[in-house]
Amino acid sequence: MNKPAVAASFGAAARSYDAAAVVQDEIRKRLLGRLDDLVLQPNSLLDLGGGTGVARKDLLQRYPTSRYINCDLSQEMLQYARKAHSADDLVCADAESLPFAKASFDLVFSASTFQWLNALECALLECARVLRPQGLLLFSTFGPDTLKELRSSFAAVDPYPRVNPFLDRQKVNDLLLKNRLSCSYVESEVIRINYASPQQLLRSLKDTGATNQLGGRSRGLLTPRRLQAAVSEYEAYKTEDGQYYASYEVIYGFAWRGDAEQ
Ligand SMILES: C[S@@+](CC[C@H](N)C(=O)[O-])C[C@H]1O[C@@H](n2cnc3c(N)ncnc32)[C@H](O)[C@@H]1O
Repeated sequence: MNKPAVAASFGAAARSYDAAAVVQDEIRKRLLGRLDDLVLQPNSLLDLGGGTGVARKDLLQRYPTSRYINCDLSQEMLQYARKAHSADDLVCADAESLPFAKASFDLVFSASTFQWLNALECALLECARVLRPQGLLLFSTFGPDTLKELRSSFAAVDPYPRVNPFLDRQKVNDLLLKNRLSCSYVESEVIRINYASPQQLLRSLKDTGATNQLGGRSRGLLTPRRLQAAVSEYEAYKTEDGQYYASYEVIYGFAWRGDAEQ
């Protein structure tokens, strides 16, 4: 990933994000729901890739005495968070290199962010470092079946990758086990969303900042002709009532920070 480009893309989407992020909204609700099954009393919690601060209210309702910090790569997202959700503790930083002391948090919550990393392993090491022993990392990310319809529509007409690659569930699980995060487990599900048109799907990706930011890719120009051809290919993914579906493979990860004595 080209990180400055990722930050710029989310920055440009800061104002449209909350209204456009239908998928991320649903995923975040499902991830937050996982907390209902756990007895936690975090003194401090980190919302990693917290964006516009959409999880803040829910998290603080659950844990009213906890200190909440939103850490995000995009300054514009954090500026928007300050305005929209009057979020107070905002830190602009990369999840792969966190500016926090070790053992700073009891809970690290991260929704729909880890797919933007270059090395999930670095972020997991950082999460393990900033978590207190027995602290919890709870996250969601996307698996390889995400946007498979869009990927194959573009692949049919264009030699350049237009959809970011995603790690599979097994790989995510292996990385958790390797990185001082014990008692971890991973689950996944596919959520299918219908759009009025392929263009609406592309629009929603742009409005949520989720554009292709592969640093090393050859930047083949997406001509209007190729785009139109990809849109025509997308006809294969029409529902009976004339809408167009897109799949999102959501991976949920849970991991507790172990310590040597445990
Ligand atoms: C899809 S949004 C998710 C926002 C929010 N967590 C939600 O559930 O709606 C992804 C967020 O991750 C941030 N992000 C991307 N790469 C990041 C990185 N390397 N470190 C920290 N944040 C990152 C983006 O700026 C963006 O705000």
